[in-house]
Amino acid sequence: MKIISITNQKGGTGKTIVAVNLSNALSLKDYKALIIPIGSVS
Ligand SMILES: Nc1ncnc2c1ncn2[C@@H]1O[C@H](COP(=O)(O)OP(=O)(O)O)[C@@H](O)[C@H]1O
Ligand SMILES: [Mg+2]
Repeated sequence: MKIISITNQKGGTGKTIVAVNLSNALSLKDYKALIIPIGSVS
């Protein structure tokens, strides 16, 4: 199992779009991908 973190404190920097497209690409290569969104309380 590999853990890939996509992090940036700033919003709107493309974290979600990268996570979704990366996990879709991995699934097309027969990997299983789980996205866990983690956010801080601001
Ligand atoms: N490389 C990019 N080129 C053009 N638009 C982008 C790019 N990355 C993100 N966006 C757009 O910017 C907005 C915010 O991206 P999002 O992935 O939701 O950011 P975050 O999750 O970091 O808040 C979305 O509308 C997304 O489609
Ligand atoms: Mg997001």
